[in-house]
Amino acid sequence: MIEKIILIAKEAGEVLRDGFGKNFSIEYKTNASNLVTEYDKKSEKLIIDFIRKEFPTHSVLAEESGKHNYDDEFLWIIDPLDGTTNFAHGLPIFSVSIGVMKKGELICGVVYDVMRDAIYSAEKNSGSFCNEKKLKVSDNDVLRNSVLVTGFPYNIAENPDKAFERFIEFVKKSRAVRRLGSAAIDMCYVAEGVFDGFWEVSLNAWDIAAGKLIVEEAGGIVTDFYNNPMNIFEKQLLASNGKVHKQMIEVLLSV
Ligand code: IPD
Ligand code: CA
Ligand code: CA
Repeated sequence: MIEKIILIAKEAGEVLRDGFGKNFSIEYKTNASNLVTEYDKKSEKLIIDFIRKEFPTHSVLAEESGKHNYDDEFLWIIDPLDGTTNFAHGLPIFSVSIGVMKKGELICGVVYDVMRDAIYSAEKNSGSFCNEKKLKVSDNDVLRNSVLVTGFPYNIAENPDKAFERFIEFVKKSRAVRRLGSAAIDMCYVAEGVFDGFWEVSLNAWDIAAGKLIVEEAGGIVTDFYNNPMNIFEKQLLASNGKVHKQMIEVLLSV
């Protein structure tokens, strides 16, 4: 199954790469920050058509078109373009993210970092890879020496879940904090040991389904802000190398 997911993630990525930098139509979703382009929709259609053909009974949850089918065994969770703001503004940091659950458990995750032509993939109990390279989280166990990454939801102006306060504390207590604009790529970089940790106050299942398995299979940990196992259908997410996890929880709970 993973080979097929990789294949379709790459095909969807090619569609995005073709559109990148061109003139395309953009619509607003909830506000002027929350965009959807014709390429989000093209990529999603391609992936769903593929699933319909190859796995006609499987359920799908996709960002732009919602839920399809009600198979209770397999669920595909799709973000056809993670990093739409970057894509729309010509910043080459965006991805395709596809996670598959079997009976409620993540079994496969693929994130295609389109402009770097990097396929991140994981299967349950089989490790994580970037193209052919096996991934391992970083060894750093000191928050003050950590490079972290975060993202902001589209309603950030309302400061949901103390997003600003948490950001300020991490800026003070780490080496640096980055904000790339694709949660799926943020998590792959945690799996790769580039970043020591990633948190965000409000995410959706399609942002993180694939990334969660990729982090875990690389030896990392993914929880909510209270150190409970992370349910991908809930909002808060903390992913780390495991060694700075408790220190990050302390910061998250200090605000
Ligand atoms: C967004 C990106 C961003 C994160 C937002 C997401 P989208 O997804 O992952 O990094 O901060 O919360 O909504 O809209 O580009 O698919
Ligand atoms: Ca997303
Ligand atoms: Ca998206």
